[in-house]
Amino acid sequence: MNDSQNDVSALRGELRYEGKAKRVYATPDALQYVVEYKDDATAFNGVKKAQISGKGAINNAITAHLYPQLEAAGIPTHFVRQLSGNEQLVKAVTIVPVEVIVRNVAAGSFSKRLGIEEGTVLARPVVEYCYKSDALGDPLINTDTALSLGWATEEQLARIRELALKVQAFLTPFFAARGIRLIDFKLEFGTLASGEVVLADEISPDTCRFWDAETNEKLDKDRFRRDLGGVEDAYSEMLRRITA
Ligand code: C5P
Repeated sequence: MNDSQNDVSALRGELRYEGKAKRVYATPDALQYVVEYKDDATAFNGVKKAQISGKGAINNAITAHLYPQLEAAGIPTHFVRQLSGNEQLVKAVTIVPVEVIVRNVAAGSFSKRLGIEEGTVLARPVVEYCYKSDALGDPLINTDTALSLGWATEEQLARIRELALKVQAFLTPFFAARGIRLIDFKLEFGTLASGEVVLADEISPDTCRFWDAETNEKLDKDRFRRDLGGVEDAYSEMLRRITA
């Protein structure tokens, strides 16, 4: 075992949380966690399951590449540094149980719910909110719901919307410059011990829709959800383009 592996093993304490795609561990510093990205893939709220070889490392690398750039663009995040192929060090946050979806182009549940053809360009970005609950399948909510049930304050929701739109404004041209249309994406936010709202979780082909700008070929988790094949290749291609 080399020194850096020793460092990582020393950091990783008790398992604090296990989600569908990641595990979160305590560290000796109460203000930091280790996040481990798994190869497990799930869709349709866990009904469809598989392993996508190398996915954890790719999503870890993509997130580790994007988050410092988002920080530089004025979006505070939980990211500290990449520790290993599938691990990263993050600031400890309390996750706000409101998932935020931002859409540039109609697709997925938006198209289904509203009968809008997939690929229809939206006149302005659409921000949607869902309740983060595996048991309920992350149902769509509005901000009144989050407020009345105490999931977030008015100030936090305003900041979350502002930051989500900043992420959209940064990432849309970032991906366009790499021949990718950013169709939509999902974000999660958390609060630090100080109360500051920061971007948490990941930004990866698991949580975004990416279409090739020339062919509209899907380069994201829809390849898994829709049995299109070539899942590993699509994730690798996204890592290649993002880090090129
Ligand atoms: O399924 P839907 O069209 O609502 O998904 C919108 C975007 O949010 C997609 O990029 C999808 O990958 C992402 N998403 C997610 N986690 C969820 C729901 C959606 O990452 N629980």
